[in-house]
Amino acid sequence: MRILSGIQPSGTLHLGNYFGMMRPAIELQEKGEAFYFIADYHSMTSLFDANERRQNTLDVALDFLACGLEPKRAVFFKQSDVPEVTELAWLLTTLTPMAMLENCHSYKDKLAKGISPNHGIFAYPVLMAADILIYDSNIVPVGRDQKQHVEVTRDIAIKFNNTYGETFVVPKEQIQESTAVVPGIDGDKMSKSYGNTIEIFGDEKALRKKIMAIKMDSRQPAEPKPDADQNLAIQLLKVIDAGIGKEYEEKLRAGGLGYGDLKKKLFEVYWDYFATARAKRAELAANLDFVHGVLKDGATKARALAQTVLHRARKASGLE
Ligand code: ADP
Ligand code: TRP
Repeated sequence: MRILSGIQPSGTLHLGNYFGMMRPAIELQEKGEAFYFIADYHSMTSLFDANERRQNTLDVALDFLACGLEPKRAVFFKQSDVPEVTELAWLLTTLTPMAMLENCHSYKDKLAKGISPNHGIFAYPVLMAADILIYDSNIVPVGRDQKQHVEVTRDIAIKFNNTYGETFVVPKEQIQESTAVVPGIDGDKMSKSYGNTIEIFGDEKALRKKIMAIKMDSRQPAEPKPDADQNLAIQLLKVIDAGIGKEYEEKLRAGGLGYGDLKKKLFEVYWDYFATARAKRAELAANLDFVHGVLKDGATKARALAQTVLHRARKASGLE
């Protein structure tokens, strides 16, 4: 079984990325042959600063390795180190109906936000399909916002197989329901592009301040809160530690727990959760040669497989 996922180096990674995608992906590296990559080509649709892309790419590598990606188990690489994927994207794009892309939520959301879309943003699900199909992937662990893109990938794979003969493995998304949509500090889906994130790594003081600033209503601490499950700090606490989340939900429901104390607890649980990873990250940051070596080895392995699958697709479609 081959497992594949990617993450864009378009900003600082946050709890949504971690619980929605990275942790499930890290757990899956034990269960099959895992391929995880930093989607730097994808970041070009929204980030136009070369140095920032370079820095973010290294940061994503450090973050993922610090959080437990094990390079002896998983192939870890940078998307653009396998340029074959852009050729495959062309083979796929010619079989992709315009209407299918026009229907993608992520594209429609961007239009609704008033972003003037470039062609890359529109065509991005096709590149994502190429990312998945070029490694004969079976399972794609992602957060819920990416489900539709994996469905598009399946449709494209089936269309290619029907048109040119059996070529691609038809993949399936894997979504961990309890953390499929992690809320941000404003209650919306946590996202790099919404400015509502709690970063996985960062400055303690600034992060504490961010968490303590989460808006609550004006009810007094003593008042019982029958809607405790709707409280954002409770929801985040549950994402990080279901047991403590449940315990504090009951405390809040019963009355007597103030919002300040609740947020303090949230900060502590969050800060402790990543203590080991934080230490590991500092170690890796002092050993960048190792990190670059991991990505280079990963690219060599990934590229060999990509070339085989691309060759299969070129033959099937009459390019060879
Ligand atoms: P962002 O929306 O912050 O730009 P990405 O699109 O780079 O995040 O997402 C990388 C991975 O993290 C994807 O698999 C995505 O589904 C997952 N993810 C992002 N935000 C969340 C969230 N708030 N809850 C759950 N999963 C998320
Ligand atoms: N589109 C994904 C995101 O923004 C990142 C990504 C690119 C990806 N290619 C992929 C995820 C292939 C899974 C499989 O989150």
